[in-house]
Amino acid sequence: MNEFIKIVEVGPRDGLQNEQQPIDVDTKVGLVERLVAAGVTHIEATSFVSPKWVPQMAGSAEVMRCVPRAAGVHYSALAPNLKGLEAAMAAGCEEVAVFGAASESFSQRNINCSVRESLERFRSVIEVARENKLRVRGYVSCVLGCPYEGQIAPEKVAEVAVIMSEMGCYEISLGDTIGRGNPNTTRLVLEACIRRIPAAQLAGHYHDTYSMAVANIVASLEMGVRTFDSSVSGLGGCPYALGASGNVATEDVVYLLQSLGYDTGIDLQKLIEAGSFISSALSRETSSRVARAMSGGATHRAT
Ligand code: HMG
Ligand code: MG
Repeated sequence: MNEFIKIVEVGPRDGLQNEQQPIDVDTKVGLVERLVAAGVTHIEATSFVSPKWVPQMAGSAEVMRCVPRAAGVHYSALAPNLKGLEAAMAAGCEEVAVFGAASESFSQRNINCSVRESLERFRSVIEVARENKLRVRGYVSCVLGCPYEGQIAPEKVAEVAVIMSEMGCYEISLGDTIGRGNPNTTRLVLEACIRRIPAAQLAGHYHDTYSMAVANIVASLEMGVRTFDSSVSGLGGCPYALGASGNVATEDVVYLLQSLGYDTGIDLQKLIEAGSFISSALSRETSSRVARAMSGGATHRAT
């Protein structure tokens, strides 16, 4: 049997948080329904952050209430503080993600506090979440470069990742927030982290600004990473990371993994339909090269 790679679909959150145009709850839920129909089992559906900071994530409670509760499908949502956690729990979330950074400047701009303060905040969020039987995932942003500070030392990334892991995050997602990594720098960061955290507890979260994300995923697979975040249609970016484009497109990741003989449990054709749904809702072309190549009746399949 082919080895399974877990894909965490972050399109409904990371993808839609950066949109300029308003997106209604029906469209957000319609996207999630189509992702579930395509076999996606891990979906970051929304975030419980301040609507003043990220207006596109308003309506998160309603989104969580309306997404299909299919067996084997796991939803998560961002929760930066206790207020966010309480709202997430009230909306029926079973998993939340706290999001920190390896860069001081990015931390200040994104969540309005220092890295040290953020970790203290996360400690309480994680404690309360776990008391209430929620799983907590941790993000570290800017692991391969910061829009404000440039290069970030791999050791700094590992330091923050280890603290979040020891606090109780079951998985640490390493964010190349502005897509500045390449396979060599990706390996260096992973080496620093894997010295202290098992590769099985790490995830790659690569934005595709410079088209390096697929190459970075291959490098990460070689280092033992088995979980990747991606965004259908390549939607997204972080509103507090100037120049950041979307995550690597889920269609491209599924195609890559299938081609390499891995199992993702995802039906590529149905995934392309989910991407097509959200691209038309946003009146834009997909950013997925694979979706473009396979749309319009093309029959080529990954082998
Ligand atoms: P703050 O202004 O320091 O917070 O923001 P505060 O505690 O002083 O509260 C200010 C106001 O916000 C108050 O309302 C609070 O009630 C409200 P007011 O009294 O003024 O009416 N508030 C909230 N409302 C709703 N939900 C909440 C919440 N907390 C406070 N949870 C805060 C601090 C963290 C809230 C703010 O900075 C924030 O919401 N930041 C979120 C930024 C964000 O979502 N960025 C994008 C996600 S991160 C990302 O994309 C990177 C990632 O993909 C990985 C990668 O690519 O690297 C994960
Ligand atoms: Mg991101």
